Amino acid sequence: MKLSSGPVVPGEPRRIFFKAAAAAAIGGVLGLVPVLTGVWVWLDPVRRRTHSGAGAFLRVATLESLPADGVPRRFAVVAEKIDAWTRTPQTPVGAVYLRRTSDGTGPGKVTALNVVCPHAGCFVDYQASRTGYFCPCHNSTFAVNGAIDMPSSPSPRGLDELAVEIRGREIWVQFQNFQTGRADKVALS
Ligand code: FES
Repeated sequence: MKLSSGPVVPGEPRRIFFKAAAAAAIGGVLGLVPVLTGVWVWLDPVRRRTHSGAGAFLRVATLESLPADGVPRRFAVVAEKIDAWTRTPQTPVGAVYLRRTSDGTGPGKVTALNVVCPHAGCFVDYQASRTGYFCPCHNSTFAVNGAIDMPSSPSPRGLDELAVEIRGREIWVQFQNFQTGRADKVALS
């Protein structure tokens, strides 16, 4: 028995073609969504290829470990380190000098200076005999507040001050390293 396909409507084949093409395109886009999402998630550690300490507030010390006598003391800064797909807990990421002064009421004021010399990246030492910091690499000197002490110092800027928060009895520092060899502070990621 022969089946009749009925009369052909003008333009019908073209409509069918465009419908099929549109369905294929939409299906293709929808199919790509989970693939692209998977790639994005897989690459996430690479996008965050940095330690969690860069620019983050980190717990550095307690008020008990920092007498309010105005004398700077050096503390290591540790943070969880994230390097692509590897997560290393509590890795040293730098060091700071903390200094606490007090008028006798409350915990007092705490300031933090990055130990890295802004000239070329050596670590400065606090020298009680000169009440200031000294860089052994090229003899830059800094006052106790971090300012350049002598005009002959090759460092283009004073020591880099970091933000501090007192949370209960804990001292938290917004730890950050900066580019060396320039007068302005440019944060490193
Ligand atoms: S690195 Fe400190 S003076 Fe050069």
